[in-house]
Amino acid sequence: MSLDIQKIRNDFPILKQEIYGKPLVYFDNGATTQKPQVVIDEELKIYSHENSNIHRGVHYLSEQLTQRFEDARKVVQKFINAKHDHEIIFTSGTTQSINTVAYSFGDRYVSDEDEVIISTLEHHSNIVPWQLLCERKKANLKVIPINDNGELLLDEFEKLITSKTKIVAVNQVSNALGTVNDIKRIIEISHKHNIPVLIDGAQSIQHGKIDVQELDCDFFVFSGHKLYGPTGIGILYGKEKWLNKMPPFMAGGEMIKKVSFEKTSFNELPFKFEAGTPNYTGAIAMAKAIEYIQSIGLDEIATYEKELLNYATEKLQTIKGLKIIGTAKEKVSLISFILENIHHYDAGMVIDKMGIAVRTGHHCAEPVMNRFNIEGTLRASFSFYNTKEEIDKLYNALLIVKQMFG
Ligand code: ALA
Repeated sequence: MSLDIQKIRNDFPILKQEIYGKPLVYFDNGATTQKPQVVIDEELKIYSHENSNIHRGVHYLSEQLTQRFEDARKVVQKFINAKHDHEIIFTSGTTQSINTVAYSFGDRYVSDEDEVIISTLEHHSNIVPWQLLCERKKANLKVIPINDNGELLLDEFEKLITSKTKIVAVNQVSNALGTVNDIKRIIEISHKHNIPVLIDGAQSIQHGKIDVQELDCDFFVFSGHKLYGPTGIGILYGKEKWLNKMPPFMAGGEMIKKVSFEKTSFNELPFKFEAGTPNYTGAIAMAKAIEYIQSIGLDEIATYEKELLNYATEKLQTIKGLKIIGTAKEKVSLISFILENIHHYDAGMVIDKMGIAVRTGHHCAEPVMNRFNIEGTLRASFSFYNTKEEIDKLYNALLIVKQMFG
């Protein structure tokens, strides 16, 4: 079934506006996605009629909202097919989720001379927490290399594994290049050596179905705001067997069972990892966003976005002096590119004046840029609410940029 894009676009109020007198063309979906009206309404409804702190009151509003928060957890559980709802931890986003594992798992399982494996394709948020862990524990960080297309070299990956390797943390999709990594294979190889795997799903969760049981990953993390939901909310999925053994990361209210000045015991899952008042509004509105994209269809979204990717790739490639960085066989709907002799910031600023939003820079993935010997790229990342006509506008805008700077 093909998607009714005009109908879908009507669900997103922000897309109706003009920027510098031109209709907004929003191609910065890799940074954050826009919000459908149902998500905006959900937040408004909570703050207008339902607000109350959760898990802390016997009064009506608190009980009602606690139930809605726990229902949201179940929506996420089903969405990624986790075995138990208590394997779903609400965090502030991907970054907090990764930091939680790096601190908590790292504290318990990583020590002197141990090893953590990440990849060249990681976002800084899946590099720096592990670097800090390695510094704290005097452990070593190892990095899976990539080829010139921006694909992980999996043969090299297996060679990096030793008896000292304690965890592998890789993204499913590179935010800088759009590469889709063969995480199933990475998980299989790692598990063959009894090593748990964290998958950073920040750039994959919005592009297709995820089944954590089928993948058999040990941890899976993502953010609500890249999934058409609110900012400040995200998910740490972890297998029960790991989460139960890991110490709490942050301490505070609701994550305890009993507190005295002599000794504190900790709450059960998932609350052990949810210290303080959680972002219940964000969690409930994120569940709404999940239901929204499910109503459109994850497979339909993936098919249409692939069409946009192919169309844009073919079209942009015809521009002389434009080089696409990241030409992996499997990609999501994201194109990173450079223009010969034109700085990406200059190009980005000019096309911004035409109402087109793309991201410019190193995309918080400096090692990827270093690998290609560049400072940064222009990045156009497409969502199911984008159109081929919008891609044509980008194409025409880039021709003007070339004329101006050429
Ligand atoms: N990580 C986000 C991006 O890739 C912000 O743009």
